[in-house]
Amino acid sequence: MGREFLDVFEEWASSYDDAVTGNDPQYRDVFEGYDTILNEVAKLTVGNVLEFGVGTGNLSAKLIAKGHTVFGIEPSDPMRELAQKKFPQLDIKDGDFLQYHKPAVEINTIVSTYAFHHLTDEEKNKAITQFYEILADNGRIVFADTVYKNQAAKQKLHQEAEANEYTDLLHDLQTEYYPFLQDLKVLFTQNGFQFEAKQCNKYVWLIMARKQ
Ligand SMILES: C[S@@+](CC[C@H](N)C(=O)[O-])C[C@H]1O[C@@H](n2cnc3c(N)ncnc32)[C@H](O)[C@@H]1O
Repeated sequence: MGREFLDVFEEWASSYDDAVTGNDPQYRDVFEGYDTILNEVAKLTVGNVLEFGVGTGNLSAKLIAKGHTVFGIEPSDPMRELAQKKFPQLDIKDGDFLQYHKPAVEINTIVSTYAFHHLTDEEKNKAITQFYEILADNGRIVFADTVYKNQAAKQKLHQEAEANEYTDLLHDLQTEYYPFLQDLKVLFTQNGFQFEAKQCNKYVWLIMARKQ
């Protein structure tokens, strides 16, 4: 479920860690401050962690270094294999935002970076409903991902990508399910979360949703 973009990662896995350091001009602005963004997510994390879309394991490694127990979920075989090779101590299972192995221990924080936009709004709603059920009392969700502040911001980002002839980026922006900030706020609040958001770069917002 929500796995429709996995082909992208068959191709991208081996060069993904290059892209996040700014080596791919098309995605430089998307990954601007990548390390700081991951550190901010780690700073807001408490207790046991369930992480979705682990990718090459960069956030998981930071969380483990801070002493958290991390249960990673990643649907892409090449991404999972890379992460496991880089960080053999990581617990990563095949799964996705909607179908995954639920750890037997209490989960205090659900984290994810650069991944939630793979779900349609309907799938996002379903995932958030499930997050509420599995999170412990006072649990929280800490996400970082591309979000449009409003329609004008969306138009500007698409126009810039087009003007720069960033065809891969433009294709992503046009085909994946990047949400509007207000819609995301509604999804979280109607599922029982208190919602906060902060912009990190031109594309990425840090989202913190506390279970009420
Ligand atoms: C752009 S990468 C981000 C990786 C990592 N979180 C990071 O911040 O570098 C997106 C990741 O989301 C994963 N993904 C794609 N669809 C997903 C889904 N439905 N559920 C969970 N993860 C998904 C991809 O396989 C990929 O590893």
